[in-house]
Amino acid sequence: MTRSNYYISTPIYYVNDRPHIGHLYTTTIADVLARYHRLIGDSVFFLTGTDEHAAKVVDAAAERGLTAQAWADQNAKAFQDTFERLGIENDDFIRTSQDRHKTQVQKYVRQLQDSGDVYLGEYEGWYDAGQEEYLPESKAKEYEYKSPFNKKPLVRKKEKNYFFKLSKYGDVLLELLEKNPGFVKPDARRNEVIGRIREGLNDVPISRSGGSDWGIRIPGDEEHVIYVWIDALFNYLSTVDSDDRRAFWPADVHLIAKDILWFHAVIWPAMITALQKQPGNEWIKLPGQIYAHSFWISEGQKMSKSMGNFIDLEKIDHYVQTFGLDALRYFLSSNGPMGTTDSDFAETKFIETYNTDLANTLGNCSSRIGNMVNRYFDGKIPEVATSAGDAQSNVCREAAVNAVAQYTKAMGDLSPGGACNAAMELVRAIDGYIEQTQPFKMAKDPARLGEVAVVLYNCAEALRIASIMLWPVIPGRVESLWSRMGLNYAASLANKGSGQFEAWTTWGQLAAGAGFEQGDPLFPRYQVK
Ligand code: MSP
Repeated sequence: MTRSNYYISTPIYYVNDRPHIGHLYTTTIADVLARYHRLIGDSVFFLTGTDEHAAKVVDAAAERGLTAQAWADQNAKAFQDTFERLGIENDDFIRTSQDRHKTQVQKYVRQLQDSGDVYLGEYEGWYDAGQEEYLPESKAKEYEYKSPFNKKPLVRKKEKNYFFKLSKYGDVLLELLEKNPGFVKPDARRNEVIGRIREGLNDVPISRSGGSDWGIRIPGDEEHVIYVWIDALFNYLSTVDSDDRRAFWPADVHLIAKDILWFHAVIWPAMITALQKQPGNEWIKLPGQIYAHSFWISEGQKMSKSMGNFIDLEKIDHYVQTFGLDALRYFLSSNGPMGTTDSDFAETKFIETYNTDLANTLGNCSSRIGNMVNRYFDGKIPEVATSAGDAQSNVCREAAVNAVAQYTKAMGDLSPGGACNAAMELVRAIDGYIEQTQPFKMAKDPARLGEVAVVLYNCAEALRIASIMLWPVIPGRVESLWSRMGLNYAASLANKGSGQFEAWTTWGQLAAGAGFEQGDPLFPRYQVK
C-alpha cells in the first residue's frame, strides 16, 4: 500500500500567553485529525509550536528581569508540557527562536529580496501595538481608531520598512480563491476574504526597526528585524525544509481560527507564490487548505483578560480531573466552533454532553452488553454463525456500514462533530436494537439462548466498530474498552502506527470466545451537586 502524506498544522502560539482553551482547542482538533489519518494509513506530519519574536515578549521579560529568550523558554515549555499532558501527539514542536527556523527564514527573505518581491520603502499607517499589526484606513475607521482586541487607541506610525509586494498578487489570489473553493474553508470565510481582496491590496511592511534585536535580522541590514508575523508564517515551511521532510510539503491543512485568517489566506499564499518562482523552489507549492474555525466564548461571554473569564489551565485541569481527559476532548470535538458561529464553553453544557453521550449512550450501552455477555455466556462472546444473513444481524451491520460512511465523510470535511455524531448514532442504533429484540427477556427461555447469542454478537460487533471511530477523539477510554474485549488494537496504534481502519471496521471481526470484562463504568454518570 502506498501511503499518502498528510501534513496538518496549528497556528504557532504567542509565548506571552499561558495556554488556554483556545490554543488547546485548535491543537486538540488537529490531534484528532492526525490520529484519524494515521488510523486510515496516511503518513502524518502534525506540527504545532510557539511564535516567539513578538515585541511584547521583550517587554514582558524585562518586567520580570529576564532575557527575552529565557522568558520564551519558560513559556514555550508551558505549551509543550500542557500539550503532552493533554494527550496531544504532535510530530514536531517548532519554536521560532530556534536556529533551524531562523536560518531558513533568512534564506526565504533573501530570495524575496532577490526577486524584487521585498523592497525598502517608507510606511505610515494605523498601528495596533497589542497585535503588532497595521490596520487599513477603512478598518481603523470602522473600529473608531481603537484596537478591536484590547480597545487601546491605534497609533499613527511612520517608519522605514521593508515591504512585501502584496499588491502585485491580487489577481493571482482572486483566481486561486475563486477557482479552488476548498482553499479557504468554511465558505463564508472564503467569501469574506474574496470581498476584502476585491477592495484592493497594499504592499505590507515586513520588518521593524529601532527596537531590540529580538527577532530575525533582515539579510544585509543591521537595523531591521523581520516582522513577527512574516517570521511566524514561515514556520510551516521551515520545519519541513530538509531532505527527509520536504515530501510532506505542501501542507494539507493549516488549521487556524478566524482571527488570523487574513495572514493565512492572503499574505501566506502570496509569499509562497513569490518564493516558488525562484530557481530550486519548484517544490514550494501552495498549501491545500486554510481552515478557519470560530471562537469559544465562556459561559455566554467573550473571553478576555479584563473579564478574567478565560478557560485557563486551572479550569482545564479541573475539567480533566472531574470528568477525565477524554471527556474534555469529546466536548471540544463535538461542541466546538468548527463552523462560522462561536461556541459557548459552559459548565451545564459540558455536563449535559457528558451525561447524554458518554455516560448514558456509550457507557451504558457497553455495560449493558458486558452485563449480558457475563450473565448468559460466562463473559465470552458467544459463538454464532456470523454469516447468518438474518434480519437481525443486518440491522446492526447496516447501521455500522452507514455510520462508517458518514464518519469518513465528516472527517474528510474536517467536521469532528459530525464524526462523533456518526459514531454515537451507531451506539444509539445498538441501544434501539436491544430495546427491540429484548435479549434479557429471551434469555429466560433456555431454548432461545441461540437467539440471544446472535443479538449479543451483533451488539458487541457494532460496539467494536463504533469504538474504532471514536478512538481519535477519546483514545484513553476506547483503549480501556478494547482491553476488556481482548482486542489488541492499541499495540498497532502505539508509536503512531496502524493504517487498519478499513480492515478493523469491516463487519464480522469479533471472534467468538473473546472476553468481555465488565470493569468500571467507562464514563460514570455525573451527578450535579
Ligand atoms: N502567533 C499567532 C499565530 C501565528 S501562526 C503563523 C497567534 N497566536 S495566538 O497565541 O494568539 O493564537 C491564536 C490562535 O489560538 C487562534 O487562531 C486559534 O487557533 C486559537 N484561539 C485563541 N483564542 C481562541 C478562542 N477563544 N477560541 C478558539 N480558538 C482560539 O495569533
